[in-house]
Amino acid sequence: MRVILAALFLCSALAPSPASAEPSAETIEQGKALAVAGDCTGCHTADADKPFAGGKRIETPFGAVYAPNLTPDRDTGIGAWSDADFVRALRFGVAPDGSHYYPAFPYPYFTRITHDDILAIRAYLATLAPVSNKTPPPELRFPANHRVVMRLWDYLFFRPGIYQPDQGKSAEWNRGGYLVRGLGHCGACHTPKNMLGAKKRGRAYSGNEVGGWYAPRLDAALRSGLKSWSVDDIVEYLKSGRNAKSHADGPMAEVVVNSTSKMSDADLQAIAVYLKDLPAGPPEPQVGPPPEAAMKSGAALYGRACVSCHEQDGTGAPRIYPPLPGNALLQSTDPASTLRIILDGAQSVTTERAPNPGSMPGYAKEWSDQEIADVATYIRNAWGNAAPAVTADEVAKARRMP
Ligand code: HEC
Ligand code: HEC
Ligand code: HEC
Repeated sequence: MRVILAALFLCSALAPSPASAEPSAETIEQGKALAVAGDCTGCHTADADKPFAGGKRIETPFGAVYAPNLTPDRDTGIGAWSDADFVRALRFGVAPDGSHYYPAFPYPYFTRITHDDILAIRAYLATLAPVSNKTPPPELRFPANHRVVMRLWDYLFFRPGIYQPDQGKSAEWNRGGYLVRGLGHCGACHTPKNMLGAKKRGRAYSGNEVGGWYAPRLDAALRSGLKSWSVDDIVEYLKSGRNAKSHADGPMAEVVVNSTSKMSDADLQAIAVYLKDLPAGPPEPQVGPPPEAAMKSGAALYGRACVSCHEQDGTGAPRIYPPLPGNALLQSTDPASTLRIILDGAQSVTTERAPNPGSMPGYAKEWSDQEIADVATYIRNAWGNAAPAVTADEVAKARRMP
Protein backbone atom coordinates (compact mmCIF):
# COMPACT_ATOMS: atom_id res chain seq x y z
CA MET A 1 0.00 0.00 0.00
CA ARG A 2 2.72 2.45 1.03
CA VAL A 3 4.72 1.70 -2.06
CA ILE A 4 1.70 2.28 -4.27
CA LEU A 5 0.92 5.61 -2.60
CA ALA A 6 4.50 6.72 -2.96
CA ALA A 7 4.48 5.65 -6.59
CA LEU A 8 1.30 7.63 -7.19
CA PHE A 9 2.94 10.63 -5.61
CA LEU A 10 5.91 10.25 -7.91
CA CYS A 11 3.74 9.88 -11.01
CA SER A 12 1.70 12.96 -10.19
CA ALA A 13 4.98 14.81 -9.64
CA LEU A 14 6.30 13.88 -13.06
CA ALA A 15 3.12 13.92 -15.13
CA PRO A 16 3.25 16.56 -17.88
CA SER A 17 0.86 19.46 -17.37
CA PRO A 18 -1.73 20.15 -20.06
CA ALA A 19 -0.57 22.78 -22.57
CA SER A 20 -1.21 26.31 -21.34
CA ALA A 21 -5.00 26.14 -20.80
CA GLU A 22 -6.42 28.84 -18.49
CA PRO A 23 -5.77 27.65 -14.94
CA SER A 24 -8.90 26.36 -13.19
CA ALA A 25 -10.28 27.93 -10.02
CA GLU A 26 -9.13 24.79 -8.26
CA THR A 27 -5.55 25.27 -9.46
CA ILE A 28 -5.59 28.88 -8.28
CA GLU A 29 -6.90 27.83 -4.84
CA GLN A 30 -4.19 25.20 -4.67
CA GLY A 31 -1.57 27.76 -5.68
CA LYS A 32 -2.72 30.04 -2.89
CA ALA A 33 -2.34 27.24 -0.33
CA LEU A 34 1.12 26.45 -1.70
CA ALA A 35 2.15 30.11 -1.47
CA VAL A 36 1.08 29.99 2.19
CA ALA A 37 3.10 26.83 2.82
CA GLY A 38 6.13 28.50 1.19
CA ASP A 39 5.59 31.70 3.21
CA CYS A 40 6.16 33.77 0.06
CA THR A 41 4.44 36.71 1.72
CA GLY A 42 6.84 36.58 4.71
CA CYS A 43 9.54 38.05 2.46
CA HIS A 44 7.70 39.50 -0.52
CA THR A 45 5.21 41.68 1.39
CA ALA A 46 6.66 44.86 2.95
CA ASP A 47 3.36 46.74 3.22
CA ALA A 48 0.30 44.70 4.26
CA ASP A 49 -1.88 46.83 1.99
CA LYS A 50 0.19 45.77 -1.02
CA PRO A 51 0.55 42.00 -0.71
CA PHE A 52 3.43 40.47 -2.70
CA ALA A 53 4.54 43.89 -4.00
CA GLY A 54 8.05 43.31 -2.60
CA GLY A 55 10.49 45.80 -1.12
CA LYS A 56 11.06 44.04 2.18
CA ARG A 57 14.66 44.18 3.34
CA ILE A 58 16.12 40.71 4.00
CA GLU A 59 19.24 40.75 6.20
CA THR A 60 21.94 38.18 5.48
CA PRO A 61 25.42 37.70 6.97
CA PHE A 62 26.74 39.34 3.77
CA GLY A 63 24.53 42.43 3.72
CA ALA A 64 20.91 43.03 2.74
CA VAL A 65 18.79 42.02 -0.26
CA TYR A 66 15.33 43.34 -1.12
CA ALA A 67 12.64 40.82 -2.06
CA PRO A 68 11.22 41.75 -5.48
CA ASN A 69 7.67 42.51 -6.57
CA LEU A 70 5.73 39.32 -7.45
CA THR A 71 2.50 41.01 -8.55
CA PRO A 72 1.52 40.86 -12.26
CA ASP A 73 2.70 44.45 -12.90
CA ARG A 74 4.50 44.24 -16.25
CA ASP A 75 7.26 46.77 -15.54
CA THR A 76 8.17 46.26 -11.88
CA GLY A 77 6.57 42.86 -11.15
CA ILE A 78 6.54 39.54 -12.99
CA GLY A 79 3.58 40.24 -15.29
CA ALA A 80 5.74 40.01 -18.40
CA TRP A 81 7.30 36.67 -17.38
CA SER A 82 6.53 33.40 -19.16
CA ASP A 83 5.69 30.29 -17.14
CA ALA A 84 9.11 28.95 -18.13
CA ASP A 85 10.79 32.05 -16.60
CA PHE A 86 8.94 31.43 -13.35
CA VAL A 87 9.85 27.74 -13.27
CA ARG A 88 13.50 28.57 -13.98
CA ALA A 89 13.59 31.07 -11.08
CA LEU A 90 12.23 28.60 -8.51
CA ARG A 91 13.82 25.42 -9.81
CA PHE A 92 17.27 26.79 -10.79
CA GLY A 93 17.60 30.18 -9.07
CA VAL A 94 18.20 31.83 -12.44
CA ALA A 95 16.56 35.10 -13.59
CA PRO A 96 15.06 35.62 -17.08
CA ASP A 97 18.23 37.55 -18.07
CA GLY A 98 20.37 34.55 -17.07
CA SER A 99 21.82 36.10 -13.90
CA HIS A 100 21.83 34.02 -10.71
CA TYR A 101 19.78 34.87 -7.62
CA TYR A 102 21.16 35.16 -4.11
CA PRO A 103 20.16 32.30 -1.82
CA ALA A 104 18.34 34.77 0.46
CA PHE A 105 15.64 33.63 -2.00
CA PRO A 106 15.22 30.03 -0.80
CA TYR A 107 15.54 28.45 -4.28
CA PRO A 108 17.94 25.79 -2.89
CA TYR A 109 14.77 24.44 -1.17
CA PHE A 110 12.16 25.47 -3.75
CA THR A 111 14.02 23.43 -6.39
CA ARG A 112 12.30 20.40 -4.80
CA ILE A 113 8.80 21.67 -5.67
CA THR A 114 7.02 19.78 -8.47
CA HIS A 115 6.41 21.38 -11.86
CA ASP A 116 2.61 21.42 -11.34
CA ASP A 117 2.92 23.02 -7.91
CA ILE A 118 5.23 25.76 -9.26
CA LEU A 119 2.72 26.51 -12.02
CA ALA A 120 -0.16 26.56 -9.52
CA ILE A 121 1.72 29.18 -7.45
CA ARG A 122 2.32 31.15 -10.64
CA ALA A 123 -1.40 30.90 -11.52
CA TYR A 124 -2.33 32.25 -8.09
CA LEU A 125 0.16 35.14 -8.27
CA ALA A 126 -1.26 36.06 -11.69
CA THR A 127 -4.67 36.72 -10.06
CA LEU A 128 -3.27 39.42 -7.71
CA ALA A 129 -3.83 43.11 -8.31
CA PRO A 130 -0.80 44.51 -10.17
CA VAL A 131 1.14 46.99 -8.03
CA SER A 132 3.86 49.22 -9.42
CA ASN A 133 6.77 49.03 -6.99
CA LYS A 134 10.39 49.04 -8.01
CA THR A 135 12.52 47.41 -5.32
CA PRO A 136 15.95 48.77 -4.36
CA PRO A 137 19.11 46.98 -5.56
CA PRO A 138 20.93 44.66 -3.11
CA GLU A 139 23.29 46.18 -0.53
CA LEU A 140 25.82 43.39 -0.25
CA ARG A 141 29.51 43.52 0.65
CA PHE A 142 32.38 42.44 -1.58
CA PRO A 143 32.55 39.89 -3.13
CA ALA A 144 28.82 39.07 -2.84
CA ASN A 145 27.96 42.46 -4.40
CA HIS A 146 29.06 40.93 -7.71
CA ARG A 147 26.12 38.79 -8.77
CA VAL A 148 28.37 36.74 -11.03
CA VAL A 149 29.91 35.23 -7.86
CA MET A 150 26.60 33.37 -7.39
CA ARG A 151 27.45 31.23 -10.40
CA LEU A 152 30.35 29.82 -8.45
CA TRP A 153 28.21 29.49 -5.32
CA ASP A 154 25.58 27.52 -7.22
CA TYR A 155 28.29 25.36 -8.79
CA LEU A 156 29.75 24.57 -5.37
CA PHE A 157 26.66 24.24 -3.20
CA PHE A 158 23.42 24.05 -5.18
CA ARG A 159 22.01 20.74 -6.42
CA PRO A 160 18.76 21.34 -8.31
CA GLY A 161 16.16 18.54 -8.37
CA ILE A 162 12.53 17.79 -7.59
CA TYR A 163 11.84 16.00 -4.28
CA GLN A 164 12.27 12.27 -4.74
CA PRO A 165 9.86 10.27 -2.54
CA ASP A 166 11.42 7.57 -0.38
CA GLN A 167 9.62 4.41 -1.52
CA GLY A 168 10.16 2.76 1.86
CA LYS A 169 8.15 5.43 3.67
CA SER A 170 4.44 6.30 3.81
CA ALA A 171 2.75 8.87 1.58
CA GLU A 172 2.25 11.01 4.69
CA TRP A 173 5.97 10.93 5.54
CA ASN A 174 6.82 11.87 1.97
CA ARG A 175 4.33 14.73 2.01
CA GLY A 176 6.08 15.93 5.18
CA GLY A 177 9.50 15.60 3.55
CA TYR A 178 8.28 17.53 0.51
CA LEU A 179 7.04 20.37 2.74
CA VAL A 180 9.95 20.46 5.20
CA ARG A 181 12.79 20.08 2.70
CA GLY A 182 11.10 21.90 -0.19
CA LEU A 183 8.31 24.42 -0.04
CA GLY A 184 8.50 25.12 3.74
CA HIS A 185 12.30 25.64 3.57
CA CYS A 186 12.59 24.87 7.30
CA GLY A 187 16.32 24.22 6.87
CA ALA A 188 16.86 27.83 5.74
CA CYS A 189 16.75 28.71 9.43
CA HIS A 190 17.16 25.41 11.30
CA THR A 191 20.21 23.96 9.46
CA PRO A 192 23.71 25.28 10.29
CA LYS A 193 25.49 27.17 7.49
CA ASN A 194 29.16 27.36 6.55
CA MET A 195 31.09 30.63 6.15
CA LEU A 196 29.67 31.07 2.66
CA GLY A 197 26.08 30.69 3.79
CA ALA A 198 25.61 27.15 2.43
CA LYS A 199 24.18 24.21 4.39
CA LYS A 200 26.74 22.29 6.41
CA ARG A 201 26.81 18.67 5.28
CA GLY A 202 25.43 15.98 7.57
CA ARG A 203 24.03 18.54 10.03
CA ALA A 204 20.47 18.90 8.73
CA TYR A 205 18.09 20.55 11.23
CA SER A 206 20.69 20.60 14.01
CA GLY A 207 20.05 24.27 14.83
CA ASN A 208 21.32 27.58 13.52
CA GLU A 209 21.62 31.25 14.44
CA VAL A 210 19.25 33.54 12.57
CA GLY A 211 19.23 37.32 12.99
CA GLY A 212 20.07 37.31 16.68
CA TRP A 213 17.77 34.36 17.44
CA TYR A 214 18.57 30.67 17.56
CA ALA A 215 16.42 28.31 15.48
CA PRO A 216 16.71 25.20 17.67
CA ARG A 217 17.40 21.63 16.66
CA LEU A 218 14.45 19.85 15.05
CA ASP A 219 16.24 16.48 15.08
CA ALA A 220 15.83 13.84 17.77
CA ALA A 221 18.46 15.24 20.18
CA LEU A 222 17.46 14.29 23.72
CA ARG A 223 17.53 17.62 25.58
CA SER A 224 17.64 20.31 22.89
CA GLY A 225 15.88 18.56 19.97
CA LEU A 226 12.33 17.30 19.43
CA LYS A 227 12.88 13.97 21.23
CA SER A 228 10.48 14.98 24.02
CA TRP A 229 7.79 16.34 21.64
CA SER A 230 5.01 14.13 20.28
CA VAL A 231 3.53 14.45 16.79
CA ASP A 232 0.54 16.22 18.40
CA ASP A 233 2.84 18.67 20.23
CA ILE A 234 4.47 19.65 16.93
CA VAL A 235 1.12 20.05 15.15
CA GLU A 236 -0.25 22.21 17.97
CA TYR A 237 2.85 24.46 17.98
CA LEU A 238 2.76 25.00 14.22
CA LYS A 239 -0.97 25.59 14.26
CA SER A 240 -1.31 27.90 17.23
CA GLY A 241 2.20 29.18 18.01
CA ARG A 242 2.25 27.45 21.37
CA ASN A 243 1.83 24.12 23.07
CA ALA A 244 2.36 22.68 26.54
CA LYS A 245 6.15 22.78 25.98
CA SER A 246 7.08 26.07 24.35
CA HIS A 247 5.88 29.21 22.58
CA ALA A 248 6.97 30.57 19.19
CA ASP A 249 8.77 33.92 19.32
CA GLY A 250 10.86 36.02 16.95
CA PRO A 251 11.22 34.75 13.38
CA MET A 252 9.29 31.54 14.18
CA ALA A 253 6.30 33.57 15.38
CA GLU A 254 6.22 35.15 11.91
CA VAL A 255 6.42 31.73 10.24
CA VAL A 256 3.49 30.54 12.38
CA VAL A 257 1.35 33.62 11.73
CA ASN A 258 1.96 33.84 7.95
CA SER A 259 2.32 30.23 7.10
CA THR A 260 1.93 27.20 9.36
CA SER A 261 -1.20 28.40 11.22
CA LYS A 262 -2.91 28.65 7.82
CA MET A 263 -1.87 25.21 6.57
CA SER A 264 -4.22 22.22 6.52
CA ASP A 265 -4.27 19.81 9.45
CA ALA A 266 -3.18 17.02 7.11
CA ASP A 267 -0.08 18.95 6.01
CA LEU A 268 0.88 19.85 9.58
CA GLN A 269 0.45 16.24 10.62
CA ALA A 270 2.69 15.20 7.70
CA ILE A 271 5.38 17.72 8.73
CA ALA A 272 5.27 16.41 12.31
CA VAL A 273 5.48 12.77 11.20
CA TYR A 274 8.50 13.62 9.04
CA LEU A 275 10.26 15.61 11.79
CA LYS A 276 9.68 12.87 14.39
CA ASP A 277 11.47 10.44 12.08
CA LEU A 278 14.63 12.58 11.73
CA PRO A 279 17.76 10.91 13.09
CA ALA A 280 19.22 11.99 16.45
CA GLY A 281 21.80 14.23 14.72
CA PRO A 282 25.22 15.24 16.06
CA PRO A 283 25.78 14.52 19.78
CA GLU A 284 24.87 17.23 22.28
CA PRO A 285 27.85 18.66 24.19
CA GLN A 286 28.75 17.16 27.55
CA VAL A 287 27.87 19.75 30.15
CA GLY A 288 29.78 19.93 33.44
CA PRO A 289 28.20 21.23 36.66
CA PRO A 290 27.32 24.96 36.29
CA PRO A 291 29.39 27.57 38.19
CA GLU A 292 28.05 27.74 41.76
CA ALA A 293 28.19 31.53 42.06
CA ALA A 294 26.12 32.00 38.89
CA MET A 295 23.54 29.44 40.07
CA LYS A 296 23.23 31.16 43.45
CA SER A 297 22.84 34.64 42.00
CA GLY A 298 20.58 33.32 39.21
CA ALA A 299 18.29 31.54 41.69
CA ALA A 300 17.90 34.74 43.72
CA LEU A 301 17.08 36.80 40.62
CA TYR A 302 14.65 34.13 39.39
CA GLY A 303 12.93 34.06 42.81
CA ARG A 304 12.53 37.81 42.71
CA ALA A 305 11.47 38.42 39.10
CA CYS A 306 10.22 35.27 37.42
CA VAL A 307 8.30 33.09 39.89
CA SER A 308 5.14 35.17 39.71
CA CYS A 309 4.53 33.68 36.26
CA HIS A 310 6.88 30.72 35.78
CA GLU A 311 6.49 29.36 39.38
CA GLN A 312 9.28 28.36 41.77
CA ASP A 313 9.59 24.91 40.17
CA GLY A 314 9.56 26.41 36.65
CA THR A 315 6.39 24.58 35.61
CA GLY A 316 4.50 27.80 34.77
CA ALA A 317 1.05 27.25 33.29
CA PRO A 318 0.98 25.32 30.02
CA ARG A 319 -0.02 27.48 27.00
CA ILE A 320 0.06 30.63 29.17
CA TYR A 321 3.50 30.65 30.83
CA PRO A 322 5.70 28.08 29.06
CA PRO A 323 7.26 25.50 31.38
CA LEU A 324 11.04 25.74 31.73
CA PRO A 325 12.02 22.22 32.99
CA GLY A 326 12.84 19.94 30.05
CA ASN A 327 12.40 22.90 27.65
CA ALA A 328 14.36 22.16 24.43
CA LEU A 329 14.77 25.76 23.20
CA LEU A 330 16.06 26.76 26.65
CA GLN A 331 18.61 23.91 26.69
CA SER A 332 19.96 24.69 23.20
CA THR A 333 23.74 24.96 23.18
CA ASP A 334 23.37 28.47 21.77
CA PRO A 335 21.35 30.61 24.24
CA ALA A 336 20.55 33.38 21.71
CA SER A 337 16.74 32.95 21.69
CA THR A 338 16.55 32.67 25.48
CA LEU A 339 18.63 35.85 25.85
CA ARG A 340 16.46 37.72 23.34
CA ILE A 341 13.34 36.80 25.33
CA ILE A 342 14.85 37.78 28.71
CA LEU A 343 16.32 41.04 27.32
CA ASP A 344 13.35 42.22 25.25
CA GLY A 345 10.41 40.36 26.80
CA ALA A 346 7.89 38.59 24.58
CA GLN A 347 4.32 38.84 23.32
CA SER A 348 2.50 35.58 22.64
CA VAL A 349 1.31 35.44 19.05
CA THR A 350 -2.41 35.14 18.63
CA THR A 351 -3.81 32.72 16.10
CA GLU A 352 -7.29 31.43 15.39
CA ARG A 353 -6.57 28.41 17.58
CA ALA A 354 -5.02 30.38 20.46
CA PRO A 355 -6.53 33.89 20.41
CA ASN A 356 -5.64 34.88 24.00
CA PRO A 357 -2.56 37.11 24.21
CA GLY A 358 0.08 36.91 26.91
CA SER A 359 3.26 38.78 27.60
CA MET A 360 6.51 38.77 29.48
CA PRO A 361 8.38 41.95 30.47
CA GLY A 362 11.97 42.55 29.25
CA TYR A 363 14.90 42.96 31.65
CA ALA A 364 17.43 44.73 29.40
CA LYS A 365 17.18 48.08 31.18
CA GLU A 366 16.89 46.82 34.74
CA TRP A 367 19.65 44.22 34.79
CA SER A 368 23.39 44.09 34.04
CA ASP A 369 24.95 41.68 31.54
CA GLN A 370 26.13 39.55 34.47
CA GLU A 371 22.66 39.38 36.03
CA ILE A 372 21.01 38.37 32.74
CA ALA A 373 23.76 35.77 32.25
CA ASP A 374 23.25 34.39 35.77
CA VAL A 375 19.47 34.00 35.50
CA ALA A 376 19.91 32.35 32.08
CA THR A 377 22.57 29.96 33.44
CA TYR A 378 20.23 29.18 36.32
CA ILE A 379 17.12 28.30 34.29
CA ARG A 380 19.30 26.32 31.82
CA ASN A 381 20.60 24.17 34.68
CA ALA A 382 17.88 24.06 37.35
CA TRP A 383 15.20 21.33 37.64
CA GLY A 384 17.25 18.68 35.83
CA ASN A 385 18.03 20.92 32.84
CA ALA A 386 21.60 20.95 31.50
CA ALA A 387 23.16 23.44 29.07
CA PRO A 388 26.42 25.40 28.86
CA ALA A 389 26.64 28.35 31.28
CA VAL A 390 25.97 31.78 29.76
CA THR A 391 28.65 34.50 30.03
CA ALA A 392 28.28 38.28 30.41
CA ASP A 393 30.08 38.59 27.03
CA GLU A 394 27.32 36.57 25.32
CA VAL A 395 24.73 38.90 26.84
CA ALA A 396 26.68 41.98 25.69
CA LYS A 397 26.78 40.50 22.18
CA ALA A 398 23.01 39.79 22.28
CA ARG A 399 22.36 43.40 23.32
CA ARG A 400 24.18 44.63 20.21
CA MET A 401 21.89 42.63 17.89
CA PRO A 402 19.19 44.65 16.08
C1 HEC B 1 13.29 34.11 3.01
C2 HEC B 1 12.75 35.12 2.13
C3 HEC B 1 11.99 34.67 0.88
C4 HEC B 1 10.95 33.77 0.80
C5 HEC B 1 10.30 32.98 1.93
C6 HEC B 1 10.55 33.74 -0.59
N1 HEC B 1 11.34 34.59 -1.32
FE1 HEC B 1 11.21 34.94 -3.33
N2 HEC B 1 12.89 36.09 -3.22
C7 HEC B 1 13.51 36.50 -2.07
C8 HEC B 1 14.61 37.39 -2.39
C9 HEC B 1 15.53 38.07 -1.38
C10 HEC B 1 14.65 37.48 -3.81
C11 HEC B 1 15.66 38.28 -4.64
C12 HEC B 1 16.95 37.51 -4.74
C13 HEC B 1 18.00 38.26 -5.53
O1 HEC B 1 17.90 39.49 -5.67
O2 HEC B 1 18.93 37.60 -6.00
C14 HEC B 1 13.54 36.65 -4.29
C15 HEC B 1 13.22 36.48 -5.63
C16 HEC B 1 12.11 35.81 -6.10
C17 HEC B 1 11.75 35.70 -7.49
C18 HEC B 1 12.45 36.40 -8.65
C19 HEC B 1 11.71 37.69 -8.94
C20 HEC B 1 12.39 38.66 -9.86
O3 HEC B 1 11.80 39.72 -10.12
O4 HEC B 1 13.50 38.39 -10.33
C21 HEC B 1 10.61 34.94 -7.56
C22 HEC B 1 9.85 34.57 -8.80
C23 HEC B 1 10.29 34.56 -6.20
N3 HEC B 1 11.22 35.11 -5.34
C24 HEC B 1 9.20 33.79 -5.86
C25 HEC B 1 8.94 33.34 -4.56
C26 HEC B 1 7.85 32.45 -4.23
C27 HEC B 1 6.84 31.93 -5.22
C28 HEC B 1 7.93 32.23 -2.88
C29 HEC B 1 7.06 31.31 -2.03
C30 HEC B 1 6.90 29.96 -2.53
C31 HEC B 1 9.08 32.98 -2.38
N4 HEC B 1 9.65 33.65 -3.43
C32 HEC B 1 9.50 32.98 -1.07
C33 HEC B 1 13.18 36.11 -0.79
C34 HEC B 1 12.22 35.18 -0.46
C1 HEC C 1 12.78 32.40 9.45
C2 HEC C 1 13.44 31.37 10.18
C3 HEC C 1 12.67 30.09 10.46
C4 HEC C 1 12.01 29.29 9.56
C5 HEC C 1 11.86 29.46 8.06
C6 HEC C 1 11.49 28.18 10.33
N1 HEC C 1 11.80 28.31 11.65
FE1 HEC C 1 11.21 27.11 13.16
N2 HEC C 1 12.10 28.32 14.54
C7 HEC C 1 12.84 29.45 14.23
C8 HEC C 1 13.27 30.07 15.47
C9 HEC C 1 14.10 31.34 15.60
C10 HEC C 1 12.76 29.29 16.52
C11 HEC C 1 12.86 29.57 18.02
C12 HEC C 1 11.59 30.28 18.42
C13 HEC C 1 11.57 30.92 19.77
O1 HEC C 1 12.58 31.55 20.15
O2 HEC C 1 10.53 30.83 20.43
C14 HEC C 1 12.04 28.18 15.89
C15 HEC C 1 11.37 27.18 16.60
C16 HEC C 1 10.76 26.09 16.02
C17 HEC C 1 10.17 24.99 16.75
C18 HEC C 1 10.14 24.83 18.27
C19 HEC C 1 11.32 24.02 18.72
C20 HEC C 1 11.58 24.09 20.20
O3 HEC C 1 12.40 23.27 20.67
O4 HEC C 1 11.02 24.96 20.90
C21 HEC C 1 9.65 24.11 15.81
C22 HEC C 1 8.94 22.80 16.10
C23 HEC C 1 9.92 24.67 14.52
N3 HEC C 1 10.59 25.87 14.67
C24 HEC C 1 9.56 24.07 13.32
C25 HEC C 1 9.75 24.66 12.07
C26 HEC C 1 9.26 24.07 10.84
C27 HEC C 1 8.54 22.75 10.72
C28 HEC C 1 9.61 24.93 9.84
C29 HEC C 1 9.30 24.82 8.36
C30 HEC C 1 7.89 24.70 8.04
C31 HEC C 1 10.29 26.06 10.47
N4 HEC C 1 10.36 25.85 11.82
C32 HEC C 1 10.76 27.15 9.76
C33 HEC C 1 13.10 29.95 12.97
C34 HEC C 1 12.54 29.46 11.78
C1 HEC D 1 4.38 38.51 33.68
C2 HEC D 1 4.65 37.10 33.54
C3 HEC D 1 6.11 36.71 33.25
C4 HEC D 1 7.24 37.03 33.97
C5 HEC D 1 7.38 37.89 35.21
C6 HEC D 1 8.33 36.31 33.31
N1 HEC D 1 7.85 35.62 32.24
FE1 HEC D 1 8.94 34.45 31.01
N2 HEC D 1 7.32 34.18 29.83
C7 HEC D 1 6.08 34.69 30.06
C8 HEC D 1 5.23 34.44 28.91
C9 HEC D 1 3.76 34.84 28.74
C10 HEC D 1 6.04 33.75 27.97
C11 HEC D 1 5.62 33.28 26.58
C12 HEC D 1 5.90 34.38 25.60
C13 HEC D 1 5.41 34.09 24.22
O1 HEC D 1 4.38 33.41 24.06
O2 HEC D 1 6.03 34.57 23.28
C14 HEC D 1 7.34 33.60 28.59
C15 HEC D 1 8.41 32.94 27.99
C16 HEC D 1 9.62 32.72 28.59
C17 HEC D 1 10.69 31.92 28.02
C18 HEC D 1 10.62 31.17 26.68
C19 HEC D 1 10.15 29.77 26.89
C20 HEC D 1 9.63 29.09 25.64
O3 HEC D 1 9.89 27.89 25.48
O4 HEC D 1 8.95 29.73 24.80
C21 HEC D 1 11.74 31.97 28.90
C22 HEC D 1 13.09 31.30 28.74
C23 HEC D 1 11.33 32.80 30.01
N3 HEC D 1 10.03 33.23 29.79
C24 HEC D 1 12.11 33.11 31.11
C25 HEC D 1 11.77 34.06 32.07
C26 HEC D 1 12.67 34.55 33.08
C27 HEC D 1 14.11 34.10 33.26
C28 HEC D 1 11.99 35.47 33.79
C29 HEC D 1 12.49 36.33 34.92
C30 HEC D 1 13.69 37.07 34.64
C31 HEC D 1 10.64 35.54 33.24
N4 HEC D 1 10.55 34.67 32.20
C32 HEC D 1 9.64 36.36 33.74
C33 HEC D 1 5.67 35.35 31.19
C34 HEC D 1 6.51 35.85 32.16
